[in-house]
Amino acid sequence: MLTLDFTGSTVLVVGGTSGINRGIAEAFAKHGAKVAVASRNPQKVADTVAALQELGAQATGFSADVRDYDSVVAGVNQVVAAFGPIDILISGAAGNFPAMADKMSPNGFKSVVEIDLLGTYHVVRAVYPHLRRPGASIINISAPQAVVGMVGQAHVCAAKAGVDMITRTLALEWGVEGIRVNSIIPGPIDGTEGMRRLAPTPEIHDACRKSVPLKRMGVPEDIANACLFLSSPLASYIHGVILPVDGGWVLGGYAAVASAMEPLLRAMPARDKN
Ligand code: NAP
Ligand code: COA
Repeated sequence: MLTLDFTGSTVLVVGGTSGINRGIAEAFAKHGAKVAVASRNPQKVADTVAALQELGAQATGFSADVRDYDSVVAGVNQVVAAFGPIDILISGAAGNFPAMADKMSPNGFKSVVEIDLLGTYHVVRAVYPHLRRPGASIINISAPQAVVGMVGQAHVCAAKAGVDMITRTLALEWGVEGIRVNSIIPGPIDGTEGMRRLAPTPEIHDACRKSVPLKRMGVPEDIANACLFLSSPLASYIHGVILPVDGGWVLGGYAAVASAMEPLLRAMPARDKN
């Protein structure tokens, strides 16, 4: 059986305190890496660091809002002081709520774009000086909304499409230094906050499961395994790629979920104050 060993590597997972990203942090911890996590909520950071240490890893973390560049820089500096240069960055902090474009407020749209898109830029910008080169790997966690339009997701579609264009541009700019940059597009991952928001009823959840060509929802380990591979020497020539890890969902299944959600979304009251 193939095993990957990240002993001696430092991994920073931004947004690593819950859901998919926490699964990624745990996978790197189980494979020998020193792992740092970051998110807004200090209690979630402390709990995750303790859980990673229980897995036997050296772990640390910091609390920051990715919309605040200075606090991201300060946190990254703490990680580097504790663990040295960063080998692998997973940037996955995100916010989402389903709402039709004409019913969300401009501030609602702005909040998601600032977390997902501006936040991704802040994170890669703050980590860039501290990446160990050559050999470093950046993975931005994108979403199917980057590739297809989705009802109730104008903000996320705009933001995640931008995230993938950051990935492609950095691949061009930083590849010369031996820094690989890729995106992963998770499909619908069961038990996550994202799916609680996007598939809020048992009926929509079931429609979602059936809409995946492999006929199962994903689990965080599916995304974590892809991150392990993509950050390893096995993927040393994979660069600037936007990789769906979704059981084939982006081939068309998302449309069934969107149409199941549409009546709920159309019935929601507007938040726009004007
Ligand atoms: P989640 O559990 O809500 O994870 C989001 C993480 O980001 C949390 O650690 C959260 O912690 C942090 N975060 C949110 N806003 C932040 C901010 N402003 N600054 C810093 N940290 C922030 O969500 P998830 O469903 O697992 O999604 C994880 C990633 O996968 C996201 O990038 C999402 O777009 C992507 N994705 C998810 C799915 C899915 O099926 N769930 C599908 C496709 C793509 P705090 O609250 O402590 O800040
Ligand atoms: N429907 C419509 N608008 C909403 C909304 C919803 N369900 N939830 C929040 N908003 C709007 C608010 O009304 C506000 O706009 P306003 O000032 O014009 O009223 C704006 O979004 C910001 O809301 P606020 O709660 O102040 O934002 P925040 O910065 O504290 O949180 C969110 C950001 C809204 C994205 C929040 O849901 C969050 O923190 N999410 C992180 C977890 C997550 O989304 N996980 C899934 C990842 S896929």
